[in-house]
Amino acid sequence: MNAFIAHLPKAELHVHLEGTLEPELSFALARKNGVALDYDTPEALLAAYNFHDLPSFLSIYYKAMNVLQHEDDFFELTWQYLAKAREQHVIYAEMFFDPQAHTSRGVAFDTVIRGIRRAQERARAELGIDTQLILCFLRDMSAESAMQTLEQALPYKKWIVGVGLDSDEKNNPPVKFAEVFARARREGLRLTMHCDVNQQNTLTHIDQCLDVIGVDRIDHGVNSLEDPLLCKTIRERGLGLTVCPISNRFVVQNLTAPEIQRMLQLGMRATINSDDPAYFRAYLNENLTALHDEGGLSLAEIVQLVKNSFVVAWLPEEKRAAYL
Ligand code: ADE
Ligand code: ZN
Repeated sequence: MNAFIAHLPKAELHVHLEGTLEPELSFALARKNGVALDYDTPEALLAAYNFHDLPSFLSIYYKAMNVLQHEDDFFELTWQYLAKAREQHVIYAEMFFDPQAHTSRGVAFDTVIRGIRRAQERARAELGIDTQLILCFLRDMSAESAMQTLEQALPYKKWIVGVGLDSDEKNNPPVKFAEVFARARREGLRLTMHCDVNQQNTLTHIDQCLDVIGVDRIDHGVNSLEDPLLCKTIRERGLGLTVCPISNRFVVQNLTAPEIQRMLQLGMRATINSDDPAYFRAYLNENLTALHDEGGLSLAEIVQLVKNSFVVAWLPEEKRAAYL
């Protein structure tokens, strides 16, 4: 079964590029850019990954980004992820990036996106892996900062398929960004937002995603199962849910396997993703394998989850048809 999962052609729709920063690359970039790290070796850095909830993860994640400074650094980050994804038979990926985490420390938007784009083009040519980019706003920053970031991004709109919302959910509901997302929609971008598992007011946040923002997908969204009306709307609109089981195990100490099975039973388009694989020590295959080995999901359920990713991917219909 593990070999079957490994060789299945797959898509990934919820992976933060900054969350693919492996400790070895952190050390290589720190040395190159003259950045001091708190640890002497990649192993010591890994041993310090002691997160147990979303805020404790995010503080480690943002601190680690200081080593990303030049266009080549963003190229290398993206290239290494895509090489790894290809090894795992991922043939299509939609990747998040967090520009404000870089512009807020003086790295130009242009530097970030050009490095990423170069790796995407090389991966398409040399690895045969097709990718698109989703710009995430940091919800713990202001709506004004998000709007400025959207404006910075518009000259590069042809390189971006959609916008998302990530970071700390506490006191940062979807409605805070209603104007920004309405503007992104008018610009022709797709919309998604994180509703991480068991966050503050999560059902209200999911409801706002559906009723106020009009999202095209929800990232995580597991708590929707607690409200039949939310489930009905998600099912009727055919919205994808990008669930990240091993991330959930870190953030809420639970793979959420029964919840994923329940979504499938209800006809909700759940997909499986890695979120921040360098931190959670699990790429896409490890997430699917854990669901089978530890979560008890059947082969048919795994295949349905993999298929759903292509069904809800933000692809033109002729490309989707070629994948399915
Ligand atoms: N940024 C990177 N990973 C995240 C996650 N799992 N939730 C919210 N924001 C994130
Ligand atoms: Zn995420």
